[in-house]
Amino acid sequence: MATTAQEPTIQELFNLSGKVALVTGAAGWLVQSFCRGLAEAGASVVCAEIPKVREKAQEVARSLPVVGGAKHYVTELDYMDSQSIDNCMADAIKQAGKVDILVNAGYERVTADWTSVTGEAFTRQLQNATGVFLLSRAFRQHVVDRRGQGSIINIGSMYGLVGSYPDAYAGLTMASPVAYHCLKGGVLSMSKHLAVYWVGDGVRVNVLTPGPFPAPNVNPAMVERLCSKSPMKRMGKPYDLKGALVFLASDASSYVTGANIVVDGGWTAW
Ligand SMILES: NC(=O)c1ccc[n+]([C@@H]2O[C@H](COP(=O)([O-])OP(=O)(O)OC[C@H]3O[C@@H](n4cnc5c(N)ncnc54)[C@H](O)[C@@H]3O)[C@@H](O)[C@H]2O)c1
Repeated sequence: MATTAQEPTIQELFNLSGKVALVTGAAGWLVQSFCRGLAEAGASVVCAEIPKVREKAQEVARSLPVVGGAKHYVTELDYMDSQSIDNCMADAIKQAGKVDILVNAGYERVTADWTSVTGEAFTRQLQNATGVFLLSRAFRQHVVDRRGQGSIINIGSMYGLVGSYPDAYAGLTMASPVAYHCLKGGVLSMSKHLAVYWVGDGVRVNVLTPGPFPAPNVNPAMVERLCSKSPMKRMGKPYDLKGALVFLASDASSYVTGANIVVDGGWTAW
């Protein structure tokens, strides 16, 4: 009969007290909820945003629950600017003392589909992946330097796994951007690659893949069409992702790396 004396409880496994999470795109629709989930689990959160959204990031940081001795911070990050990426990691460490968890959630949008996207705009969309890589590499170095443990959670998309339904968009809006599909598929592939290389450094790399979670300003007619394509017949609510995010951030997933957790109401199941 196995003894439970050395076995962590479920509360201990999911507890993020004493941990620091750096979250990019922190003012985003889903990302605000990611920040709340991490804070509710006990983490200190460093809310990173592009400079023009700094004020909104500040509001998010101020609104986060504080558990125990946690403290929340704001910093700037632009994936399009490699200097900003180095500065972001250095500033997060300077403010919070260390970083244990990195959530790569922000991205610059592309506003053209396959019919009209320029080569330049396509390449710029893929530069988000370069930014995710550079920030992740800086994080890995920080974990190695302090002989710590780290968890990277890269936010994917159902559109990194499957194509979209043309009839969900036709006549209402442009198709889901081909460059975005390429970005999210690439982030998934990169995460698996880095997971294997960095496992010996104490850094886990996983992907959290949301299905459809339209923001409140999305055309309701399109949302209705998307609902009809979903096995659950509903769109995701931001909080639907919190549990999986905290799982990947915490010791509850200490034996999980290179994985992709799909939270999509069954979208990719049929
Ligand atoms: N909302 C959905 O339906 C959905 C579905 C699948 C996947 N996702 C993914 O979830 C994540 C969050 O989505 P969201 O709906 O909250 O998006 P959002 O657009 O609301 O938030 C993204 C944030 O990224 C920031 N950003 C813009 N340019 C940036 C740059 N150059 N560098 C760093 N950050 C930049 C923005 O300021 C914004 O606050 C994204 O990675 C997205 O691809 C969202």
